[in-house]
Amino acid sequence: MNSKVALLAAGVVIAVVLVAGQQRGGPAQPAAPVQSPVAVPAIVGPAAVPVAAPVQPDPATPTVAAGESVVPNYVPRRLKVFEGHWQGMDGRLMTEELARKLNYPRGIQGVLLGEVTLNAAFSGLLGGDIVVKVDEFPVATMEDFQAATREIMNRTEARIGVLRKDSRPGAPVLRKLTVVLRSESSLGFAQLEGAPMILAGDPRPHGYRGACTECHPIGQGFELTPDPDLISLPPPPITRDIAAKGTSSHEVRGPCEACHVIR
Ligand code: HEC
Ligand code: HEC
Repeated sequence: MNSKVALLAAGVVIAVVLVAGQQRGGPAQPAAPVQSPVAVPAIVGPAAVPVAAPVQPDPATPTVAAGESVVPNYVPRRLKVFEGHWQGMDGRLMTEELARKLNYPRGIQGVLLGEVTLNAAFSGLLGGDIVVKVDEFPVATMEDFQAATREIMNRTEARIGVLRKDSRPGAPVLRKLTVVLRSESSLGFAQLEGAPMILAGDPRPHGYRGACTECHPIGQGFELTPDPDLISLPPPPITRDIAAKGTSSHEVRGPCEACHVIR
C-alpha cells in the first residue's frame, strides 16, 4: 500500500515533468478548472494510449489546470479474463504457472475452484477441483465456462465434471468425478472478472505473463482499499475511558495508542 502510494507519487512527478516539457514547446494552454483525477471517457478506447504520457488535452474538455497533470486511467477494451463466479463457485483459469505452484499435473485445462460456498458447496464440490465440463459442454477456458453456463442458465440442475487431486503426498494424481449442482431457481450464468487494477510502476509480483495491459487496467479508483474481502476496518477513535480500562472488542493487539486515536 505504502509502496503503491510512493510509486503513484513518482508516476505523477514523471507525468508533471512530461507535461511541463510539452507545454514549453507547444502553444500556451488557457487556464482550465481543476478537476479530480477520474477516468476520462474520451481516452478510453481500443487504441493503445501510453500510460505515462497523457494524451494531448482536448481544449473542449479540459481535465487539468496549467502546471498540474493527471495520468489518465487506462482501461484496455480487450482484457483477458481470469476469474469467474457461478452458484457459489469462485474459479480461475488453470494455467501452467498455477499447476506448477500448486503441484497439479501439467497440461490440464479447466477452471480451478479457489473457493466454494452456497449451492456449489452443497453439491459436494471442493476448493481445488478443476471444472472440465458443465453438463455436456466441455470447459477449457473461462470463456468456455461462461458459454457452457449460458447454455443451461434456465435449468435448475446441472452435472459438473471435475478433476480432483488425491490428497496423497507425492506425484499429483487426479480423479474424474461428476457432481450434481442444484438450485431452487434457474442456475443463471457465470460472471467473469479480469485481473486487478494496478498502478503505473507497480512491480510485477508474478512470473512474466505478457504485456501488463493484456490483463490489467492501469490507474486509480478501480479497487477499494482496504479490500473488504479481508474485513480489516480502520481502527475507529476510542475514548480515554475505554483506553484506560483497556476494554476492547478484540483480542490483545498491543497498546491502544499504537493504533487508535484516543480522545
Ligand atoms: C496474462 C495476464 C497477466 C499479465 C500479462 C500480467 N498480469 Fe499481473 N496479474 C494477473 C493476475 C491474474 C493477477 C492476480 C493474482 C495472481 O494471479 O498472481 C495479477 C496480479 C498482479 C499484481 C498484484 C495486484 C493486486 O492488487 O493484488 C500486480 C502488481 C501485477 N499483477 C503487475 C503486473 C505487471 C507490472 C505486469 C506487466 C509486466 C503484469 N502484471 C502482467 C495477470 C496478469
Ligand atoms: C494493532 C492495532 C490495534 C491496537 C494495538 C488496538 N486496537 Fe482496538 N481496534 C483496532 C482495529 C483495526 C479495530 C477495528 C475493528 C477490528 O478490526 O477488529 C479496533 C476496534 C476497537 C474497538 C471497537 C470500536 C468501535 O467503535 O467499533 C475498541 C473498543 C477497541 N478497538 C479498543 C482497543 C483498546 C482498549 C486497545 C488497547 C488496550 C486497543 N483497541 C488496541 C486495532 C487496534
